[in-house]
Amino acid sequence: MVVATKIVALAELLDGGFSKQAIRRAFSRFSCERDPDVSLFLKAHAIQNEATGASRTYLALSSDALDEDRLEVLAFVTVAVSVTDYTGIDLGRRLQIMGRVPGVESANFFPGYLVAQLARDDCYTHDDFDASRLLPFAGDVIAGAIAVVGGRFAYIDCRDELVGYYKRQDYEPLYYDEGRDLHKLVKPLF
Ligand SMILES: CC(C)(COP(=O)(O)OP(=O)(O)OC[C@H]1O[C@@H](n2cnc3c(N)ncnc32)[C@H](O)[C@@H]1OP(=O)(O)O)[C@@H](O)C(=O)NCCC(=O)NCCS
Repeated sequence: MVVATKIVALAELLDGGFSKQAIRRAFSRFSCERDPDVSLFLKAHAIQNEATGASRTYLALSSDALDEDRLEVLAFVTVAVSVTDYTGIDLGRRLQIMGRVPGVESANFFPGYLVAQLARDDCYTHDDFDASRLLPFAGDVIAGAIAVVGGRFAYIDCRDELVGYYKRQDYEPLYYDEGRDLHKLVKPLF
């Protein structure tokens, strides 16, 4: 059964309404066994990252819980600015992806935006909350940044098992990073 949700910026929650302690308590209940690193991120880094500007997190919260002044996190997505390493990507492929941006022939590192985290709490199923909804949401957030500061691409790092999932969301595999055992995927946002 679909759970009514509201997507709220963590920054907005921290600005008012809920204490940091209440937010931490809600985060401590979040669990994601398939990828424990993402729940660790929420518990240990998300709030600190808001303070330092390292990333921005958006939470899908239960609307019913919010009506009762409670925080129940169904899922979350985190976006950040990032630098992508194009070393080893030949000019033809660079031009295909980026066009004639400055440095396309000689530079190896290009700025962009990263969808750094995406996860749903194990208490909920896809039918309760389709977490893929958070990807266009994150895309809109990034597109807003692009409109005012420039840039064009959103990137995602993911393991082998999720490449097909992100391809269905129009992210295109760019390369496989053997050292990190992660695929880098890219999507132009205009
Ligand atoms: C990724 C996620 C947010 C997607 O939610 P969703 O859009 O509602 O889609 P689903 O949960 O139905 O998952 C889509 C498919 O990916 C698979 N999948 C999701 N996370 C996976 C993981 N960590 N490892 C392996 N397979 C995974 C699901 O089993 C499902 O496969 P199916 O289509 O064959 O049934 C959610 O599955 C999740 O929280 N996964 C664990 C955390 C995670 O892996 N985050 C991504 C880090 S890059």
